[in-house]
Amino acid sequence: MAWQNLQTFDKIWSIGKLRKWINELAERGGAWYNQRTMEVMTKDPSRRNLSSLQPTFFVRDVPVYGDLILAPMDGYSDLPFRALCRELGAAMSYTEFVSVDGLSRRGEHDEITRRKLQFDPRERPMVFQIYGHDEDLLVESARRLQDLGPDIIDLNLGCYVRKIAERGAGSGMLRDPAKIARLIARLTRALRVPVTAKIRLGWDERTRNYLEVARILEESGASLIAVHARTKSQGYTGIADWNAIVEVKQAVKIPVVGNGDVKTVADIARIKAQTGCDGVMIGRAAVGNPWIFARQDRDRIAPAEKIALLRRHLARHLEFYGAHNGLILFRKHAYRYVQGGHGAAALRHALMRCDEVREFERMLDEYAASLEISG
Ligand SMILES: Cc1cc2nc3c(=O)[nH]c(=O)nc-3n(C[C@H](O)[C@H](O)[C@H](O)COP(=O)(O)O)c2cc1C
Repeated sequence: MAWQNLQTFDKIWSIGKLRKWINELAERGGAWYNQRTMEVMTKDPSRRNLSSLQPTFFVRDVPVYGDLILAPMDGYSDLPFRALCRELGAAMSYTEFVSVDGLSRRGEHDEITRRKLQFDPRERPMVFQIYGHDEDLLVESARRLQDLGPDIIDLNLGCYVRKIAERGAGSGMLRDPAKIARLIARLTRALRVPVTAKIRLGWDERTRNYLEVARILEESGASLIAVHARTKSQGYTGIADWNAIVEVKQAVKIPVVGNGDVKTVADIARIKAQTGCDGVMIGRAAVGNPWIFARQDRDRIAPAEKIALLRRHLARHLEFYGAHNGLILFRKHAYRYVQGGHGAAALRHALMRCDEVREFERMLDEYAASLEISG
């Protein structure tokens, strides 16, 4: 009898532990565990019926539920925009890149950096992206940032901006694969959370060393590679070379995220079919077009729905940055939301010059009303 009790106790105890473990995994994957039905549910209502215990891929032990990811974009991928994209179906969140030189000068609590690193727990898995050229500083900064609670720390090896790349940070580090090996090995030893990297194909056309870099990243302990399929010297010119992503995917076992020139829902299917990548990262085409994460092209979205979402985004922006700065910073998003259709060009022009929230909203209301009449 006592033995049976003990067995029952043991079962209950281990089920409790199992639940706690599933719960933790689900939380980190931006999901929740339904104790009653024993199902893992995604937090995004539009994806709930797709929920399953099967993550799309793992970043070491961090499950990722879904295959579309908003690219880190300085000046764009802030908390208000990321949260909106996540609600529509993006699977994980990257911060805008954060300079470790800036961190060492100003600390992680200065206003701009604090905002860049602010996230909503529902965004998990949350990736903090850092860049720099000094190995000690990168490791020390990553260790400190880890305490702010990201699930993953990502090293930017792709930034092409001259003053960053020429100092050996961002894509500049692609010229020194041995340094990448040392750094990733040190980061993976120093951090509890997985370490990942986002690369370009190389410095220029003559030095496309992405395969060497990808192998080094994996061997040194990186848990995911995101590949923007252009060289540094290309900047944003030319067409992203998705065949290079195919090669990276075949060369490593860790997840590979394909990036570059994904503009439509059809492109998502194309890059996945062509490259076999585990995830697809979307940057410029998501601005003013977060519906892409719900696999809907913007020309299929009713104008009134576009304006409604724009207003929701604006409200979050104002709350996050304060009324004045929030509006000024939002104008570049508004420009991208309002595209095509009757009166769009005139509205865009007027919005770009407006620095009064009430006036901005009045113009949007007027435009929405005119759409209702004409629609
Ligand atoms: C305005 C802007 C800011 C960017 N900032 C970052 C950044 O902070 N970190 C990063 O890794 N890449 C950054 N990128 C590059 C994007 O993440 C992405 O690799 C690139 O835009 C190609 O993807 P796309 O064709 O989908 O736009 C930025 C791109 C743009 C346009």
